[in-house]
Amino acid sequence: MNSLLFVCLGNICRSPTAKAVFDYKLAQAEMPLLTDSAGTGDWHIGKPPDPRSQAFARAWGVDISAQRARRICAADFDRFDRIYAMDRSNLADIQAMASPGCRARIDLVMSLAPEYGIEEVPDPYYGGDTGFQRVIDMLSEAADRLIEELQQPRK
Ligand code: 4NP
Repeated sequence: MNSLLFVCLGNICRSPTAKAVFDYKLAQAEMPLLTDSAGTGDWHIGKPPDPRSQAFARAWGVDISAQRARRICAADFDRFDRIYAMDRSNLADIQAMASPGCRARIDLVMSLAPEYGIEEVPDPYYGGDTGFQRVIDMLSEAADRLIEELQQPRK
């Protein structure tokens, strides 16, 4: 397992934050993996992350300003070992694009942290600031759980 793709709707709020939070935690754990983010929608292709996501990420300690939105494409399903969707709508859209037998295992990102008790990372785009912080808190928890999984001796 060496590559992860994070997917949301616009690729300007949740998934760029996910990439940065996972990159930060994986680097701390000395487990660098190939990561990227993408969106299922095409409205923001080529745009930097939402300024609110940039500000909350910066306050948490990561810089997401250089990321640019792109749309998930067919090649992603064989380029990445795991594709993590932020919510059930993203998951359904991704599953509808996947070809049978593709490399990627596709799941909700919060499936990594079932004890958190919330299955979907809520879309913060139309909400207030608390939504952006919550995205970071949830993804930070999911990243910790993934690192624990990867640190388990292989069965
Ligand atoms: P994201 O948030 O999926 O976390 O990037 C959104 C950003 C933009 C839109 C929707 C969700 N939009 O409709 O433009």
